[in-house]
Amino acid sequence: MAQRSALLNVMTAAATKAARGLVRDFGEIENLQVSKKGPADFVTTADKKAEEVLVAGLTKARPRFGFLLEEGGKIEGADTSNRWIIDPLDGTTNFLHGIPHFSISIALERDGEPVAGVIYEPITDQMFWAEKGQGAYLNGRRIRVSARRRLEESLFATGIPFAGKQDHDRFLSQLKAVMAVSAGVRRFGSAALDLAYVAAGRYEGFWEIGLHPWDIAAGIVLVREAGGFVTDIGGGGMMESGEILAANDSLHGPLLKILAGRSA
Ligand code: IPD
Ligand code: CA
Ligand code: CA
Repeated sequence: MAQRSALLNVMTAAATKAARGLVRDFGEIENLQVSKKGPADFVTTADKKAEEVLVAGLTKARPRFGFLLEEGGKIEGADTSNRWIIDPLDGTTNFLHGIPHFSISIALERDGEPVAGVIYEPITDQMFWAEKGQGAYLNGRRIRVSARRRLEESLFATGIPFAGKQDHDRFLSQLKAVMAVSAGVRRFGSAALDLAYVAAGRYEGFWEIGLHPWDIAAGIVLVREAGGFVTDIGGGGMMESGEILAANDSLHGPLLKILAGRSA
């Protein structure tokens, strides 16, 4: 069993605690689907409650660290080097529709660089965790990106932009290009889990445009520590542009060209 550092213990404990509430609330969703109003407000409350549990747990353990929260925004800490970047519920649309594929994502950013990440999938009890220089793990097992090198044997994941998001046409041309050369493209609905699954070698790569730092910060550490490559797509930095491509070392370069509209 891999030994987690004190820092990772703090992160996984917070995720485990917040997940209990999410799982309880997820159990209620089915009943709410049939109501006229639907479960939207209920989910917003579940999301906020999970964030509060995470903030309370992490503040207790590291009182000086700041936060970047999806729901609560920025909270300055006395320690200006370290801040937590948190998505308390990644995969909200799935959660809202009673689809059991969602996660909690917690990253520690130190001096602008994500250095530790935890992504927890409560329904399947899969805890993905990684710390800079220490490798990436799923529960107690070391994980690595896949070794597939041939595009035609490779499976990719992405996120499809929806109403209110930009770049629909750009996405469609990227999808068309990847479809033409790969074994398939999946859209599961949690960017954090997509990155964790690349780290675990389940698919060879993942790309998405229009994301936020809390969707990707923890996953960046996981993919890097699992031996993969993770960059932005068009230049400008992943955290700033919200565009990300994560893949194993053999396929990252070819995929980057394909997404940019050049042949691999
Ligand atoms: C969303 C998920 C989804 C991605 C969206 C994100 P949320 O996050 O990560 O997979 O396609 O772009 O906004 O809203 O469920 O936290
Ligand atoms: Ca998210
Ligand atoms: Ca969210």
